[in-house]
Amino acid sequence: MKIALVGGTGDIGMGFALRWAGSHEIIIGSRKADKAVESASQVAEMVNDGKIRGTDNARAVEAADVVVLCVPHEHLISVTSDLKNSYSHQLVISPVVPMVYSGKFFQFVPPEAGSSAMQARSLLPEEVKIVSAFHTICAAALQERDKELKADVIMCGDDAEALDTVAGLAGEIKSLRPLKGGPLQASAMVESLTPMLLNVARKNKIKDAGIKIVSER
Ligand SMILES: NC(=O)c1ccc[n+]([C@@H]2O[C@H](COP(=O)([O-])OP(=O)(O)OC[C@H]3O[C@@H](n4cnc5c(N)ncnc54)[C@H](OP(=O)(O)O)[C@@H]3O)[C@@H](O)[C@H]2O)c1
Repeated sequence: MKIALVGGTGDIGMGFALRWAGSHEIIIGSRKADKAVESASQVAEMVNDGKIRGTDNARAVEAADVVVLCVPHEHLISVTSDLKNSYSHQLVISPVVPMVYSGKFFQFVPPEAGSSAMQARSLLPEEVKIVSAFHTICAAALQERDKELKADVIMCGDDAEALDTVAGLAGEIKSLRPLKGGPLQASAMVESLTPMLLNVARKNKIKDAGIKIVSER
């Protein structure tokens, strides 16, 4: 697949690029094409047989089958509105978490739509499918290409085929387990796990924390 990483020059974008470049064509997107080209060459150095390039966000989206929104929540509206005409048929993955740090703890601060994913849904063309996923995956751990991630990826979405595609992509990352979390409207619950996870990690000194659903049977 051709995977565009909007804002892919950042922490989580570089993590996805490093993990998927061996088996997919990766297009790192940025507001500045030269910044994306530089990030792509950094990834190419680490992934010998990887297919990877960098360009501006609009060109990246236009060329892609799958788009991952790798931008902070506060820029989601502007980035998504600016790129609206670049979308046609793509599957969009949103790992975006609307949260703030109050100085004492991380807090979930959802937009009026209920979640970042529902906000993205309201801004993107109808033909575009959205799956929200990867909110509780730590970018630093993702960037360590060979590191086994023992976490679960909880996905929310309304289209079975799109969910299968995202489950496949999650499954390609060593030991991640994709789990269905309900329709896109349920995304708020999954997005809200991230500030909780960060607070627990800080208070208990847990590095690169993730979430795993256990079964006692
Ligand atoms: N970091 C994590 O561990 C993690 C884990 C799970 C989910 N997430 C979610 O993933 C998303 C990205 O997180 P991140 O840590 O990778 O973020 P980040 O590194 O802070 O930023 C990602 C990219 O956003 C772009 N950006 C910054 N300001 C912008 C603006 N005003 N308009 C448009 N684009 C702008 C920048 O790309 P250019 O300058 O190249 O345009 C930047 O490289 C967030 O929504 C976060 O909640 C992060």
